[in-house]
Amino acid sequence: MARPVGLCELPRGSRERAVLVHCRAGFEREAADELAGHAAARGMSGTTEARPGLALFTPAPPVALARIAAALRYADLVFARQLLFSSALCTGLLVGDRVAPLVAAARAQANRYGEIVIETADTEASKPLLRLCRGLASPLRQALRSAGLLGDAHVDPAWPRLHIIFLRSDSARVGLSYPGNSSPWPMGIPRLRAARGAPSRAGLKLEEAFLTLLTAGEREERLRAGMVAVDLGAAPGGWSWELARRGLSVTAVDNGSLCGEASESRLVRQVRADGFRFRPARPVDWMVCDIVDRPDRVTDLVARWLLEGWCRQCIFNLKLPMKRRLETVWRCREAIGQTLAAARLRHRLTFKHLYHDRIEVTGYITRLS
Ligand SMILES: C[S@@+](CC[C@H](N)C(=O)[O-])C[C@H]1O[C@@H](n2cnc3c(N)ncnc32)[C@H](O)[C@@H]1O
Repeated sequence: MARPVGLCELPRGSRERAVLVHCRAGFEREAADELAGHAAARGMSGTTEARPGLALFTPAPPVALARIAAALRYADLVFARQLLFSSALCTGLLVGDRVAPLVAAARAQANRYGEIVIETADTEASKPLLRLCRGLASPLRQALRSAGLLGDAHVDPAWPRLHIIFLRSDSARVGLSYPGNSSPWPMGIPRLRAARGAPSRAGLKLEEAFLTLLTAGEREERLRAGMVAVDLGAAPGGWSWELARRGLSVTAVDNGSLCGEASESRLVRQVRADGFRFRPARPVDWMVCDIVDRPDRVTDLVARWLLEGWCRQCIFNLKLPMKRRLETVWRCREAIGQTLAAARLRHRLTFKHLYHDRIEVTGYITRLS
């Protein structure tokens, strides 16, 4: 990975370097343990902190932000909705006098930013801080421009984004994210709307998966009208409808009934069957699976579809009602990896706890040959 641009050191004494990720409230421990696990695999030790909607990893002894940033990949982190590198914790911020210390911390962190994001944790308790974030947007932007710190992301898309993350009205972390190593959305939250006619909001989960787990090029190449998909555990039809909306022909497998436009679409054909036993008559482009079952059963099913050549790629959901959620995802990832590696099937597998996922994560696997 290219060395991140624009980093500079903070004066001694004001260093509060940490990796900070946004996550769904209730999943802070998983996000923190995952960060520590990835850091340890790259030879860094440190302490973790889980606070509502956020997880932090502070390397000990301190490590330059550039080194941490080069070691951690957003795409590899399952429970992180957004990946930030924070150089300072600004405390004692006073009403009417917040801009100057935040600009000073931003200046100490990097030479130039392409964008600024003012945010807080995605929790009920943090909602009142959103007003403060909105109110500061314009004065901070102006002050950063006057200081020559804020450029135009269109000029150089590699410039980092400046993040100001309010923890309380008088304290904020100052950090940055790299456009190629983070979510494009503030707090990692895509603003998607269920289109009219959607049978369920579950379709948003698949839409977010396409936007998050596939590159723009992959979406163009792999989600073309005329392609063929199988949707296992399809009812009431949100995922089938999302695929049909993109022009794919869908076999929707479920003993339950499809609703609304999914039941009326000429591109959706329902088969009442057990998704674990269903076999396609011929290979399809996509298999998607939202069956509520044990993660290891779903994992075996996905591996089987790829091994048998029944599909080229797959998006699937693993439900995580158990306590050891991080270990469960790691175990499933390893199981698929080992099964496919034994068959010499080259593949790419990514998991993400999407914004529209609740107690579950979404996986994307594609054959590489
Ligand atoms: C979470 S819902 C799916 C929602 C769907 N993705 C949507 O967008 O509307 C899970 C579905 O899995 C189905 N299901 C559970 N076990 C199944 C099995 N063995 N075979 C097929 N469908 C199954 C249930 O009937 C239920 O409709």
